[in-house]
This record gives sequence, C-alpha cells and structure tokens, in this order.
Amino acid sequence: MVVIFVPKESVAGETRVAAVPETVKGMTKLGASVQVERGAGAAAGFLDADYEAAGASLVDAAARHGADLVLGIQMPTPELARQQKAGSLLVCTLTPGSQLPSVVALRDAKVTAMGLEFMPRITRAQKMDILSSQATCGGYQAVLLAAVHLPKLFPLMMTAAGTITPARVLVLGAGVAGLQAISTARKLGAIVEANDIRPAVKEQVESLGAKFVDTGAPPEAETKGGYAKETTAEFLKKQREILSAHITQADVLITTALVPGKKAPVLVTADMRKGMKPGSVIVDMAAGQGGNVEGSKPGQTVVVDGVTILGDTNLPARVGADASRMFARNVVAFLGEFLKSGAVNLDLNNEILGAVTIVHDGVIRHEPTAQAVAAQGH
Ligand code: NAI
Repeated sequence: MVVIFVPKESVAGETRVAAVPETVKGMTKLGASVQVERGAGAAAGFLDADYEAAGASLVDAAARHGADLVLGIQMPTPELARQQKAGSLLVCTLTPGSQLPSVVALRDAKVTAMGLEFMPRITRAQKMDILSSQATCGGYQAVLLAAVHLPKLFPLMMTAAGTITPARVLVLGAGVAGLQAISTARKLGAIVEANDIRPAVKEQVESLGAKFVDTGAPPEAETKGGYAKETTAEFLKKQREILSAHITQADVLITTALVPGKKAPVLVTADMRKGMKPGSVIVDMAAGQGGNVEGSKPGQTVVVDGVTILGDTNLPARVGADASRMFARNVVAFLGEFLKSGAVNLDLNNEILGAVTIVHDGVIRHEPTAQAVAAQGH
C-alpha cells in the first residue's frame, strides 16, 4: 500500500497545507495510507485531531524518509529533498527555475518530482489545476488588501453626510486572478475597468459588469493552451499610451499580467505611476515574476509619491484554509491519474503525467531546467 506523507510547510509565511481532512478520505479511497506531520494544518486552521478522525496517522518530520509519495505546497529545501527514498514521488509546486539546488538533490536522490504548475490546460485537467485555484484566491485577496490600504470607501454611498463616490479600480491582465479581482471589486461596489491582450477576454470582463479598455490584440495573442504570448516592444509602447489615462483616474490598480516562462511585461512605468493621486493603491501580483509595475518590490510594501505599492508574493497564504482546501482537492484529482487500489502506475506517455514529471529516475526531463543545471556544472 502506498504511504503518502503530508509535511508541515517549511517556507516562512506559508500557511497552506497540501492535504485537508476531507482529502485524506479521498486519498484513502485511492488505496493509500496517509501520514500527516503533527501541526501541518495548524496555520490553515485544520487540527491534528481532524486529520486523525479522517483516517490519517500523525507522524513527525522524519516520516518523510519512509514515504512512497510526499505532498507539498512549495518545493522542499535540498536537505529535505535528500531525505526522500530512491524511487519515491514528490508532488508539489516545483518552480524548478528558481530552485536549482533542490532539483539537483531530487535528481541525485532518484526521486520522481512532479510540478503541479506544469499541468496542461486541457478540459480533463481543470480539476487538477492549482494555478487556477490559487489565482482565484490571490485575485480575491488582492482586492481586499487594496481596500484595506485605500483611504477611500469602495461603494457609492448616499448618506446624511452627503454622497461618497465609488472607488475606481483598474485591473491589468484579466486571466483567472484578474477576473476574480474584477468580480470581487464589483461586489464591493467599485467602478471597474480591465485590460488584456487576449481577444476572448473582452466579453468575460463585460459579463462581470466591468468596462474593457481596448488596447488591441497582437497577432496570435494566445497560445493553444490559452496563455498570452510575449508582445513586441512596439505593441507594449502603444498599450502603455492608451492605459496611461485610465491609470491616472484609478484609485486602485491591480496587475496580474504574466507570460509563461518569461519575465512579466512592464505595463506601468514610473512616469505612468506618477500620474496617480496620492493615497492610491497598487497591488502588483506579478511582483515575484519581475513585476508589471516599475518600483514594486517582491514581498514588500513601498510608498512612492504617496502611492502604496504592494508586492505580496503569496496572496493565497492569506486565505490559508480555502486555498489549502482547493489545492488539496486539485492534488487528489491528480493522484487519481496514477494511483489506483493503492498502487502507483506511472505512465509518462500519459499527457498529464508526461507534462508534470520534471525529474524522473535520475534525469531532469524539463529542458530549460536541465540546461540551467548543466550550465552550473552540476
Ligand atoms: P496568466 O496568469 O499566465 O496571465 C494572466 C493574464 O495576463 C492573462 O489573461 C494574460 O492574457 C494577461 N497578459 C499577459 N501579457 C499581457 C499584457 N502585455 N497586457 C495585458 N495582459 C496581459 O494566465 P491565467 O490567468 O493563468 O490563464 C489565462 C487563460 O488560460 C484563462 O483565462 C483561460 O482562458 C485559460 N485557462 C484554461 C484552463 C483549462 O482549460 N484547464 C484553466 C485555466 C485557464
């Protein structure tokens, strides 16, 4: 019977956990025996006793050694990676490009490492898509954070003390996180505008009651998987010109624009930001990928010319309970792809398994990561 180990996350500020009591039951149904590190769910509000009642056994951190499959939210440190036994599996968010020492440790330990962020965007894999579930939590949180920092009310208010005009929110990049941000800002009563370069987005933005700021779409703006492609510098210049006037009017600017595998596009230069009123708030959700806004700092809040710029890099951790619940449900759906009646059947020709398996049997299968490791002489 496959033994699954659920660790307490070791990265500072991480509140999430990769399994919740509900999904312990799901994993047991797949024939696995589930071990949960004591306190693993505490920061997200899940008690040891609830995991036990769901059928898990409580263990200490050393249980990682004996496990056949280790789950996680974030990539383990090289030390933790080395503790896994040869032939065992790791399922988490790997972010291999920025975690080369851990990748090398996993390769040398002969661990099969599966990065959930590499899930192909096909209909069958939607329920396994952690990028979508976590972006949903992030987009929601971005608006709430902005509301807390903004010295203005979001909704229109007609009171005995007179009328208060609604806040104006501009969302740049209206994918999963951006659409959730639009929806949350609308529910709080703000006037919302949004921009994206994929043509399909206009209708989605309008269906949420926001106005679409049309900056045109570059030819072949979208990949087969629904992601944006990198635009030319010329297109970006024109886009910034159109966006400038809208940025000046906004009380809140939320940016989420990403291009897979590339540095995030700079949509807001320092000059454009200077047009914003003092007291305005920017949440740069792309801060960890290079930033959409010049001057944003990953993991930090800075105030420039009276404008607060938030560069939080782990917004889902601020809603640890539901972010964990969604991540953990994604994980169980994914495990069902190769775990049946307590046995692992890893077919790397399977479209999903082939895409997410980054390290296997001593080989780094993800070409850019393999090249980066080779360039370092490892
Ligand atoms: P993402 O996180 O990679 O990017 C966020 C948004 O930024 C995207 O909408 C992108 O078009 C936009 N963007 C990129 N460069 C930009 C620029 N220069 N200016 C303005 N906007 C820019 O993407 P996300 O949110 O993860 O997903 C994008 C799309 O993928 C979804 O809207 C959907 O169509 C598709 N998708 C499909 C799934 C499936 O079929 N399983 C699951 C989830 C998403």
